[in-house]
Amino acid sequence: MDRYAVMGNPVAHSRSPEIHRRFAEQTGQALVYEAILVPRDGFADAVHAFREAGGRGLNVTVPFKQEAYALSARRTARAERAGAVNTLSFGAEDSLSGDNTDGAGLVRDLTLNHGIELEDSAILLLGAGGAVRGVLGPLLEAGPLRTVLANRTPDKAVSLARQFATLGNVEGTGLDGLDGRRFDLVINGTSASLAGQLPTLPDDLLRSGAVCYDMVYADEPTPFMRWAREHGARLAVDGLGMLVEQAAESFYIWRAVRPRTAPVIEALRRPAGA
Ligand code: ATR
Repeated sequence: MDRYAVMGNPVAHSRSPEIHRRFAEQTGQALVYEAILVPRDGFADAVHAFREAGGRGLNVTVPFKQEAYALSARRTARAERAGAVNTLSFGAEDSLSGDNTDGAGLVRDLTLNHGIELEDSAILLLGAGGAVRGVLGPLLEAGPLRTVLANRTPDKAVSLARQFATLGNVEGTGLDGLDGRRFDLVINGTSASLAGQLPTLPDDLLRSGAVCYDMVYADEPTPFMRWAREHGARLAVDGLGMLVEQAAESFYIWRAVRPRTAPVIEALRRPAGA
């Protein structure tokens, strides 16, 4: 059987094996997919060994996405822009192809699963680290009217916005630059949620009907989702749909078959044993 895996550190809690097992079952594809814990200084060796053992492709998660980028002999334009690779494919020759499906996954979850109109909207992205950089290209390509990146460290947001200026109307600022501005969609791409924290945000940040999206997912609503509900958001969603959609994009790259994501998202939402 064709072998695939996700490599990360930590990786034990990754839901990717379950997602890809469900995709394979649903589409009748014969493959196995496992989670591999890789030592922090051992990524290139692990990729090599997996390939030698007959591996066909890999997902890559924290902290190896930049290293996967560097290892890729060929990269798609979206991976190039993201500066990170989350999907590796092993070609016939000894070459590694790198892609990044995170941004496409986010855009598909927003537009297809949640029916959110991105065109002509005002979008705020919180954060300016790897998570934001990874999704910025596909978001800007969806045609928002304006996009603001706001970060605790303002310089990082300003510099990131500059790097993407050719793709749309995008501006970087510090969190204090948000006063008096209002948005249709606010996406939390900071790692603050993971620590149960939230950047300080103005109370009147949301336009009527606004949607808030947290790129992380959790069994309980994240602090950002709770903030969103308290401040009048029409919808406050976590990143589980993005996770399943980026996985579906990877599956499509490897197998040329597009799995249906809705039943898989639904299955993952169900509490264990239900
Ligand atoms: P990732 O790859 O998850 O994006 P990262 O590159 O370390 O990780 O970026 C983390 C992001 O979350 C950064 O934008 C960081 O802000 P700084 O650039 O100022 O460090 C942001 N972040 C993390 N914890 C935060 C907090 N408690 N409040 C506000 N922003 C936070």
